[in-house]
Amino acid sequence: MNDSPSQSPDSDAFGADRLALHLLGATQAAALACVPWVGRGDKEAADGAAVAAMREVLGTVPGTGRVVIGEGEKDEAPMLFTGEEVGDGNGPAFELAIDPLEGTDYCASGLDGAISVLAAGPRDSIWATSGYYMDKLIVGPAAKGTIDINAPVDQTLERVAKALGKEVSDLVVVVLDKPRHEEVIAHIREKGAGVLAVPAGDVMGSLRVLLPDGGADLALGVGGTPEGVITACVTRLLGGDMQAKLAPQSDDERSGIEADGVDLDQVLTVENLVSSDDCVFLATGITSNPLLPAPEETPWGWRTHSFMVTPRHPGLFVRALARLQG
Ligand code: FBP
Repeated sequence: MNDSPSQSPDSDAFGADRLALHLLGATQAAALACVPWVGRGDKEAADGAAVAAMREVLGTVPGTGRVVIGEGEKDEAPMLFTGEEVGDGNGPAFELAIDPLEGTDYCASGLDGAISVLAAGPRDSIWATSGYYMDKLIVGPAAKGTIDINAPVDQTLERVAKALGKEVSDLVVVVLDKPRHEEVIAHIREKGAGVLAVPAGDVMGSLRVLLPDGGADLALGVGGTPEGVITACVTRLLGGDMQAKLAPQSDDERSGIEADGVDLDQVLTVENLVSSDDCVFLATGITSNPLLPAPEETPWGWRTHSFMVTPRHPGLFVRALARLQG
């Protein structure tokens, strides 16, 4: 029996549950700050509002927090930049990967699928790099241990189908609908599987794979690295599996990664990306998606819908009223 408190999901020595409740306020506030910007065609303004609202709440969270995946370098991001310290200084040392508005185009166009999302863990538990794009492969708990990001797609489909007790033709694969994926999407369809081709938002796409009623069996393809690390956190918490490899899309990005001394061929496992079980994942709906409705105005204030995952609570849907101001 393992009696190490940090490894027992019941002990919560790090305080993941308490931290999650405080951090919940950050994704809720960011989501509410986006409401006036939904459908206004201004994704920068929406993102700026989300960042400012999240920053305000993060400043009050008990503990010494550091943003390890943020809005960019200090020079280009006025707030929540990578390396910024947050928290009130009284409590555990934690670190954060944040995406205050994931799906900026969805929000600006008033389309379903925008969320505010973050991942947190103890100090030095979240993997970070200068690279922006990452190739990812994500499956739910039933297919854990079957994936190899270096294997041909056909083999992945067969292995996942076998693990799930399905035919390849029953599988639904989430892939970002981008020109770089035209070939793989066509190939998956040729093999008889269905593709959920999402225009943006691969964190939500991965959640559809990880949750039992999400309607998808695996997610693959190249998307943002920050989104990949946030996805790794929820994958770890929900018992799924993920592998990733950096996939620079420009020479500048490649040089930055090489300058950081990161091996582009390294296969990053879910444990490499988030090295502690004591992590926290939070997402709040900005525009609706199958899991999280958009904020709603009620006679008592605005109601938000969030999904919170901690080691002891692998899936809490939180329907909350925002406190009325004044
Ligand atoms: P934004 O919220 O920054 O617009 O990102 C949305 C997103 O679709 C992510 O979910 C995804 O990982 C990334 O963009 C893919 O980047 P790109 O659109 O450049 O291919």
